[in-house]
Amino acid sequence: MQEELKQLEQKSQLRSLHETTILENGWILRDGKKMLNLASNDYLGLSERFNKTNVTELIEEEEPISSSLRFGSTASRLIVGNDPIYREFETQFASFKGTEDCLVFSSGYMANVGVISSIIGRKDVVFSDRLNHASIIDGIILSRAENKRYRHRDVEHLEYLLKKVDLNQKKLIVTDSIFSMDGSVAPLKQLVELKNKYGAMLMVDEAHSGGIYGMKGQGLVHALGLTDEVDILMGTFSKAYGCYGAYIAGDSILIQYLMNKARSFIFTTALPPINIAAIKQNWCRVKSENWRQKLLLEKSAWFKQQLQSRGFNIGESESQIIPLIVGDNKKTMEFSTLLQEKGVAAVAIRPPTVPEDTARIRFTIMSSHQDEDLKKVIEYIDEVGECLKVKK
Ligand SMILES: Cc1ncc(COP(=O)(O)O)c(C=O)c1O
Repeated sequence: MQEELKQLEQKSQLRSLHETTILENGWILRDGKKMLNLASNDYLGLSERFNKTNVTELIEEEEPISSSLRFGSTASRLIVGNDPIYREFETQFASFKGTEDCLVFSSGYMANVGVISSIIGRKDVVFSDRLNHASIIDGIILSRAENKRYRHRDVEHLEYLLKKVDLNQKKLIVTDSIFSMDGSVAPLKQLVELKNKYGAMLMVDEAHSGGIYGMKGQGLVHALGLTDEVDILMGTFSKAYGCYGAYIAGDSILIQYLMNKARSFIFTTALPPINIAAIKQNWCRVKSENWRQKLLLEKSAWFKQQLQSRGFNIGESESQIIPLIVGDNKKTMEFSTLLQEKGVAAVAIRPPTVPEDTARIRFTIMSSHQDEDLKKVIEYIDEVGECLKVKK
């Protein structure tokens, strides 16, 4: 282990933990230093609500949801852990997503791993975008299905791979909707066409689009009118919803199947009921305060335009996730350190999280970021980029 850690250090890939306290308007304390947070997934600033008061007060202040706001769910859902709040919430949430049913998982990681490994097996084939999230990749490994990775967003390559597979084999196409390290958007309409043409199932991970896109934050699939075409819709409550947990939405048979087969649902203690209550509160804001989504998208467009006009490489970002691609690991670490010294929490993302030679700073915008703070950040990025000769 020591040897491997040393090797990671030599490649500038060694990771460590930094103590972080969430403040307000996108500010944090990181290792005791106040920084503007450009690294979180709390896109709508909804996790900041929980700073103001303790969670029970916050929930009681609004319409009562359930009498059992417990932290311990005491068992898995299938044993005696199924508080009434779960099914009540799942039914309402399914109707919001426009699907027959929905099932809460403890995290997005567990949802992806549990679903993929239960719906496909050794004799099946899965087609996965090369830049899909690690939880999708781990689900595929656990499923033991044949894994065919297609080039990022390349539908021609996907079709080429689909053509080579026996028509009768069970097939799953799986994609992030917005790619977590690139901010690029999946070609969902074309994926639907291909899934229909080749008789495959389609699964879309809406971790980074849920809560943000669509009239009321239902997600990108809903916004594009594709809900009925996507077999398995996955999303999290850990990002735009500012909480924790995840869901799978789809038809009733799928949900019944997962309750019986998904091991990461069956063999784990249910999320605390109070967590579901908190999700419900933030969900109300996702639906009714759409100024948050509007601000987020406006601020993200401005930030991207500022970086591009200064000659930085932001890849194919079309969302609130904005990579500044540096390439070299060491230089990326330096970039991040210099920005942190100036009070900007900008985190370096290195291989193996991203492909070799594409190390980057992954900026994420929050609707609660103040314009003057973002302007300062752009000035700092410009200075550091100039100094490290990172511009194109
Ligand atoms: C695309 C994608 N899917 C799934 C997950 C996992 O979600 P969670 O953090 O809730 O486990 C993430 C988290 O980073 C993600 O980016």
